Amino acid sequence: MSGPDFAALKRAAAARALEFVHDGMTLGLGTGSTAEVFLELLAARVRGGLKVIGAATSECTAARARSLGIPTASIEELAPLDITVDGADEADRELNLIKGGGGALLREKIVASNSRRMVVIADRSKLVDRLGRFALPIEVTSFGHTVTAARIQQMAQDLGYLGLLPALRISEGASFLTDGGNVIYDCSFGTITDARALGRALKAITGVVEHGLFIGLANTLLIAQSSTEVEVLKPVAIRDA
Ligand code: A5P
Repeated sequence: MSGPDFAALKRAAAARALEFVHDGMTLGLGTGSTAEVFLELLAARVRGGLKVIGAATSECTAARARSLGIPTASIEELAPLDITVDGADEADRELNLIKGGGGALLREKIVASNSRRMVVIADRSKLVDRLGRFALPIEVTSFGHTVTAARIQQMAQDLGYLGLLPALRISEGASFLTDGGNVIYDCSFGTITDARALGRALKAITGVVEHGLFIGLANTLLIAQSSTEVEVLKPVAIRDA
C-alpha cells in the first residue's frame, strides 16, 4: 500500500491559500517546500493578470519569486503587508506553530509580525496536539554561540525540560548560517507545556536572536487532510467573533 502523497497535500493547501489573495494586495512570501508550491500557483495567477507584490522571508524565496516573475520589494517598502502565506514545521489547533526547519525563522517572524493576516499552509502530518515533537530551531549569534547554547540548556533544565542537548545545525560539513549570518541550534524540548513562557525565557538569553515558536501570529491554518479536503482552522478568539 502506498503512503500519503504529500506533494498533492501541499498543493491542496497552497491552492486553498490562493483564495485569500486579491488584486492589489501586498504579500509576505514564506519559505520552505509548501510555500514554494504556493509561489508557483501564485505565479500562474500573476501571469494571468493578478496584480500583487511580495516581500520574501528568505534570500531563497526572493530568488524563486523573481525567477517566477512575481514582483517583489523589501518589507520596509511594503509593511504593513495585507497577508503572509507561509508553511510550518508543526501546528496545534490553537494555531501555535514551530517554524524554522528551513532556517528562515527570523525573517519569517519579522514578515508575519508586520502582516495584517498570516495564513499557514501545511499537510496533515504537521498538525499535533501539543508542540514539541519537532526540534525547536533557535537562532543564535555566531559570536559565543557555544556559551549561549549552554545557557539555553541551563534554562531548559530550570523550566523542567530535562536532558535537553542543543544541537548545532550543520550543513555540508560546516555550521549552517542563516541569511543574517547567525547559527541555529535545534532543541528537542519534548512536549512543550507552556510555549509562551518558553519563548519569553529564550528571548531573555543574550545571544539568542530568535526562536521558532510562533505564538498568536497565525490567523488561519489550512491543513490538507487529503488532496481534495483542506481543513480551515482559526484561533478561538476569531472562531467566537
Ligand atoms: C522555514 O524556515 C520554515 O519555517 C518552513 O516554513 C517550515 O520548515 C515548513 O517547511 P516545509 O513546507 O518544507 O515543510
